[in-house]
Amino acid sequence: MRRILVTGAAGQIGSELVPALRKLYGADNVVAAGHRTPIPDDIKLAGPCTTVDVCSYEEVDAAIRHHHVDTVYHMSSILSALAEERRDVAHQVNINGLYNVLEASAANGLERVMLPSSIAAFGPDTPRDNTPNDTLQRPNTLYGISKVFGELLGEYYCSKLGLDVRGARLPGIISWKTEPTAGTTDYAVAIFYGAIRDRRYTCYLGPDTRLPMMYMPDAIRSIIDLAQADFDKLKHHADFNVGAMSFTPSELAEAVGKRVPGFTMDYELDPRRQAIADSWPNSLDDGAARREWAWAPRYDLGAMVDDMLENLGRKLGTTKA
Ligand code: SER
Repeated sequence: MRRILVTGAAGQIGSELVPALRKLYGADNVVAAGHRTPIPDDIKLAGPCTTVDVCSYEEVDAAIRHHHVDTVYHMSSILSALAEERRDVAHQVNINGLYNVLEASAANGLERVMLPSSIAAFGPDTPRDNTPNDTLQRPNTLYGISKVFGELLGEYYCSKLGLDVRGARLPGIISWKTEPTAGTTDYAVAIFYGAIRDRRYTCYLGPDTRLPMMYMPDAIRSIIDLAQADFDKLKHHADFNVGAMSFTPSELAEAVGKRVPGFTMDYELDPRRQAIADSWPNSLDDGAARREWAWAPRYDLGAMVDDMLENLGRKLGTTKA
C-alpha cells in the first residue's frame, strides 16, 4: 500500500497533485505537507495534513516516520524570479531542503521519491530549439542550478544508494486553481486573470519570447505516469524532458483575444525575468519520456485556453457554473 507525503502541498502544482493522488490511492494515504502558505480548505478537509519545514532534516524525518510514509512527492521550491532575489532562502529550500528529503528518504528505506525538475535546468549554451534530453545544461540562474543539483543528486541516490528517484523537467505550468508565485513563466497564468477581469494585460516578457509550456492536467498526469512507470524500462531517472506546447506572449495573446472580445495586451519588460526566459529553451525534445514511459500530452494551446477561460471564469464568478 502506498503512504505518500507531498511537500509544497499549498503550491501551484501541489494543490492539484494532492487531490489527484488521493483519488488514486485513497484520501487517508496522502499526507499534504505545507509550511508558510496555508493549505487550501478542500485539501485540509479531505485528508491528513501536516506542517513540514523541509529546511529541517528532523522535521522531514519526523513526518516520514509519524505517517509511515513510503513515497515522497517533493514539490516545495522557490521559483526562478524569487530565487534570484532571495539567494539565502532559495539555497535553504532548493538545495538543503532537497538534500534533507533525499537523506531522510534513504535513511528510512523509502520506496520512491518524485523530484520535479524544470526547463530552468538548461542555460544559455543549451541548444534552444527542440532541446535534446541529454545535452549541455550549464544554467545561469540559482533556481536552474538547484534543479541540476536535484537531477544529479537524484541519479546519485538511485545508482549508489538504491533509492528510486524520478523526475521530469516541467515547462511553465498554466493552471486556474492556485496562482504560481514569483516564477518567470507566471505571465501565462496572469494573462487569464487580466483578460477575465479587465480585458487587458501588461506582459513583463517581450512579445517573441518563446517558452515551453504545459497545462496543469498534463503536468499532473506526467508526474503520476512517471511515478507508476516500470523501473526496469527507465534509462533516465530524475531528468526527463516533457513537452506539451510552446508559444510566445503574442501568440498566447492572440489565442486569448479570439475568445475574449476586446482583449488587449501591452508590454512593460522586466529585465530580470526577461534575462531568465532568454536563457531557457524554446521547445523540448521529449523522445526519452515518450519511449521510456509512454509520455503523451493531451492539451495544445487552443484546448488549454478554452479550458482556462471556462474554469477561471467560473472561479472568478464571471461565467455560470
Ligand atoms: N515555472 C518556473 C518558473 O518560472 C519554471 O520551472 O520559475
